[in-house]
Amino acid sequence: MKIAVIGAGTIGEAIARCLKDHDVIATRRKIEKIKHLEELGIEVTKDNKYASEKSDIIILCVKPKKIPKILREIKQNTENKIIISFAAAIEIMLMKKIISKAKIVRAMTNIGVIVKEGFTVYATKDLNDKEEKEIKELFGKMGKYEKVEEEYMDGLTGLSGSGPAFVFTILESLMYAGLKIGLPRELSLRAAIQTVIGSSKLISETGIHPSQLKDKVVTPGGTTIEGVFELEENRVRTTLIKAVDAATKKAKIITSLLNREFQE
Ligand SMILES: NC(=O)c1ccc[n+]([C@@H]2O[C@H](COP(=O)([O-])OP(=O)(O)OC[C@H]3O[C@@H](n4cnc5c(N)ncnc54)[C@H](OP(=O)(O)O)[C@@H]3O)[C@@H](O)[C@H]2O)c1
Repeated sequence: MKIAVIGAGTIGEAIARCLKDHDVIATRRKIEKIKHLEELGIEVTKDNKYASEKSDIIILCVKPKKIPKILREIKQNTENKIIISFAAAIEIMLMKKIISKAKIVRAMTNIGVIVKEGFTVYATKDLNDKEEKEIKELFGKMGKYEKVEEEYMDGLTGLSGSGPAFVFTILESLMYAGLKIGLPRELSLRAAIQTVIGSSKLISETGIHPSQLKDKVVTPGGTTIEGVFELEENRVRTTLIKAVDAATKKAKIITSLLNREFQE
């Protein structure tokens, strides 16, 4: 199985690395930036037509506004092939207007894919069981994955696609909190990271609801309730809910702005 990754930037390069045990061709215009991938056995080229012609599965990792142009460029090499688009906000129905004979998968992942801990969601109605098994195998090499209805893709773009940036902000703030109270910088960062990893693992492995776990650590007259009180007073929950909501709304705005670009 030969796989083309078109647009090997942050996400595309990470995906190409995860899939390196397959036969992968990666493309971008500034090819010198991905030359090092050749050491992993990945072929690199600027030529999207060549890469798409040679491949059975074509993975699109360019920015959403580039998708219509790229689809027109590779159109003649997409018939009956699986096209997986990781572009935010681009609906399957829009892509079908240009590559009507392709089997289209709309996917969303996140930057965790760099360490094979991405959360990949995908929607498709075009694949048979064998083809779906093949793409699940690919997504499995990038971290965790789930099939979802396409209507959830914008929400998941806001929650898990953009989510790492929210978590990085929280981690940075916890590290700065450590500095404020006089902890050494590196110790402070290690403490913040392990606190987030341990808390996530606890929820994930026990299945206990986050509210219940929070209740366990907040003791009467203790230290933690003082901190939780500050979080509540400063509306941290409302702020995070608004962050995910804003990112989701932006995906919907991008969809409506790019809609016209897909008309033949
Ligand atoms: N970043 C994230 O956390 C994240 C998460 C999930 C999904 N996504 C989605 O993934 C896509 C890429 O995001 P990104 O953050 O990886 O962006 P990025 O780093 O800018 O990568 C996009 C790459 O596309 C290449 N490109 C542009 N025009 C091209 C062309 N005509 N032919 C071949 N390659 C071309 C660019 O390289 P050259 O300029 O050298 O051509 C660039 O390296 C977006 O659609 C985004 O919605 C991103």
